[in-house]
Amino acid sequence: MDQKHVVGELDLDQTLFAEDQIVGRLREMAAEIETDYDGKDILLVGVLKGAVMVMADLARSLNRHVEMDWMAVSSYGSGTTSSGVVRILKDLDTDLTGRHVIIVEDIIDTGLTLSWLVTNLKSRGPASVEIATLLRKPDALEMVVDVKYVGFDIPNAFVVGYGLDYNEKYRNLRCIGTLAPHVYS
Ligand code: IMP
Repeated sequence: MDQKHVVGELDLDQTLFAEDQIVGRLREMAAEIETDYDGKDILLVGVLKGAVMVMADLARSLNRHVEMDWMAVSSYGSGTTSSGVVRILKDLDTDLTGRHVIIVEDIIDTGLTLSWLVTNLKSRGPASVEIATLLRKPDALEMVVDVKYVGFDIPNAFVVGYGLDYNEKYRNLRCIGTLAPHVYS
């Protein structure tokens, strides 16, 4: 859906990125990945559910073979703050031994989920583990985990759209926007 389909609800404060900006940036990230992984197999690991759109557009922008697998972890309840508790809801089907893994994320907020995930995946004997995220919030800049590919750094606001939800809504919004505080306060 487009912004016009939710604009009547006054839910979206501001559009941060239009669909073509997002897809354009993912193409640039894909080009970087192609150069960095020349001659190496890649396994993209998407983090459900938020990374579904990012995975779809990033993977299709790569002009080479890639494998894709998915993990589901829970780190958030239904609110807008991180709980810090990470639980595997769905594990990978793929053996990571000797694999070059790129974790595909929608957003890094506190970085708690990701630093836990990197440690977990590294314990499975991969050749390498890197991170590609579409969005990164300022708090994540202090995170100990290195993020190799970042789409956009954004202000510290709650954003929705392009896979990102609030209470499971807005994932199918084409653009990314900030949620009006009245929706969650
Ligand atoms: P972290 O552990 O704080 O980095 O949070 C990571 C996860 O929280 C993301 O994968 C999202 O699912 C969710 N999240 C963090 N910030 C936002 C936001 O602004 N909008 C929607 N989901 C978010």
